[in-house]
Amino acid sequence: MDDALLQKIAKLKQQRKAVILAHNYQPGEIQDLADFTGDSLGLSIKAAETDAEVVVFCGVLFMAQTAAILSPQKTVLLPAKDAGCPLADMITTEQLRELRAKHPDALVVCYVNSPADVKAESDYCCTSANAVEVVQSLPEDKEIIFVPDQHLGSFVKKRTGRDLILWPGYCSTHVVITENDINSAKARYPDAIVMAHPECTEPVKELSDQILSTGQMLTFVVHSDAKRFIVATENGIIHTLKKKRPDAEFTPASERGICPNMKKITLDKVVASLEDMKYHIKVPEEIRLKAKKSLERMVETLPAT
Ligand code: 13P
Repeated sequence: MDDALLQKIAKLKQQRKAVILAHNYQPGEIQDLADFTGDSLGLSIKAAETDAEVVVFCGVLFMAQTAAILSPQKTVLLPAKDAGCPLADMITTEQLRELRAKHPDALVVCYVNSPADVKAESDYCCTSANAVEVVQSLPEDKEIIFVPDQHLGSFVKKRTGRDLILWPGYCSTHVVITENDINSAKARYPDAIVMAHPECTEPVKELSDQILSTGQMLTFVVHSDAKRFIVATENGIIHTLKKKRPDAEFTPASERGICPNMKKITLDKVVASLEDMKYHIKVPEEIRLKAKKSLERMVETLPAT
């Protein structure tokens, strides 16, 4: 990596009293540069805990919004203005209100991959690391609406035995990983452990040995004796998996497992972000206060995994 660029970023960080957070799907050089890397849950907790004045969020919009919701006194910057999440955008508040009107007594659990105003309309938020525990903590006699990811939703349904009302959203990066991809990777490496993210389709998860959030994958490999892993999620995580287990081999289930939005963050954009304080992610106060409640129910009541 370019030393001059790194020094420039270090100086800017000091001037701005900034911290750099990066999601596990970020390009390797961004993960290496970050003060903290992690999954959605870990990063939202870090963003709330840090005493930095500026948070440069190397991820996608909903993650930066989550940081802004939890830490209104901090300036949250997203280095790439157009780094969105198609899954998060698959539900609007109007659609959620309509669904709620059909099930007026239901509790709404929204996946963190959702817009701030959808979080504001929800009772509970969850990430892939704690969706099962959040749903398990809800009263047995309550109907539960789960939005927007149908695949995480059916995983939670299966694990909890609860009859969730699902929304047909999906992650366009995870659904490109097919049953064939898993079968052919397993045929090539019969000794490998297959780790799949819950956003994968049901047949892919059924063929997998472990269904884990990105943070859980990083912990799992450290404690596993296996020497090879097939990774069914966004391939950016392989950079950090290799660092955790330099002696093991990591094979992507599919070369197509690349999130184009996560890859919009570059070193140059991180520099520009710190220099020009862009792009400042703000959430209107009325929405922020409501969304914070659903996030706090998640952050405060559940142990991080
Ligand atoms: P994790 O919470 O497992 O990091 O997943 C985030 C995500 O956006 C998956 O597509």
